[in-house]
Amino acid sequence: MARSRAFDDHQRHLLQFGDVLMPDAASEPILAPDIKSALLEWLEEIWADHELQAVGLTPRRRAMFSGPPGVGKTTLAHHLAARLRLRMLAVQPERLSSKYVGEHARNIGELFAVATAQADPVILFLDEFDSVAGERRAAQQAADDDRNSAINALLQAMDRHNGFVIAATNHADRVDPAVWRRFDIHIELALPGQTERQEIIKRYLAPYGMPSRQVELFAEALETASPALIRGLCENVKRNLVLGHKLSWPMQREAVFARAIAAVSPHPDLGKPRLWTHKVEDVAIRAMSWPLALAVDLPAETASEPETDPKVARFPGPR
Ligand SMILES: Nc1ncnc2c1ncn2[C@@H]1O[C@H](COP(=O)(O)OP(=O)(O)OP(=O)(O)O)[C@@H](O)[C@H]1O
Ligand SMILES: [Mg+2]
Repeated sequence: MARSRAFDDHQRHLLQFGDVLMPDAASEPILAPDIKSALLEWLEEIWADHELQAVGLTPRRRAMFSGPPGVGKTTLAHHLAARLRLRMLAVQPERLSSKYVGEHARNIGELFAVATAQADPVILFLDEFDSVAGERRAAQQAADDDRNSAINALLQAMDRHNGFVIAATNHADRVDPAVWRRFDIHIELALPGQTERQEIIKRYLAPYGMPSRQVELFAEALETASPALIRGLCENVKRNLVLGHKLSWPMQREAVFARAIAAVSPHPDLGKPRLWTHKVEDVAIRAMSWPLALAVDLPAETASEPETDPKVARFPGPR
């Protein structure tokens, strides 16, 4: 479908503040079940807009995602925007700040004005939110004044704005309390648990795969790893598998993993997963079949089927 000139002009105004992410480029993050159901509830609420309005309510429109780096805050916001078939403006905080006094506050006002003027609604995604909305301070220097006036501008703009706003931060404790209260949904994304790590490994190792016991061991060696780190590791393994042969690198299991582990580092604040201590000596690597098989070639596994307990009554499935 050809886009109108007006759409392009509006979109250009958005681009001065960050990147516009389109719905079809989104992917679904792998999340713990409680987070998934909180998100599904929010989506249901948004989809029930008309019914809620009929009883004098409006869906909640402002969410704050907090959590350590690389757990999927941006990915999740983009996924939600895609579920709502909306574009998302990923605002770059440095495009709002300025060395000129008063301009930070003006930029914030301008950002919300540009978002409101869009004929097609856009979700505002405010990343590194603590840098935009850190706590106000008693003004001792001009910089404090400037920061405080920027936060006041943000409060006013949010109070007037009817569209969706999602903010993300690694430091929820640093966000100004008055700004924090403007958000009616707070979701804390934690590091993935064992089950989620297994899913993340399978997703990013594909089209390669491992028998489920080996995936379990590998996920255990990656405890405290963020999804971003697991993705980086798996993708490095695959890159090695493709390029190593062309470049005549040693291709034994230990050699490939030594290169892949060295190529990505855990975030210093998140603790070191076991794999980065034991490296290729880790039991997860020692137990791994080599060369990696393609996931489609792995035999269908019966081991992961739940055991049937004859004492437990079975519910009939859907007819
Ligand atoms: N829960 C997840 N499931 C699957 N992939 C994930 C998940 N979280 C992160 N990733 C992958 O890791 C990369 C980084 O994710 P993302 O940028 O969304 O993290 P973030 O929490 O926004 O990090 P930051 O705090 O650094 O902004 C992305 O490429 C994404 O695909
Ligand atoms: Mg992010």
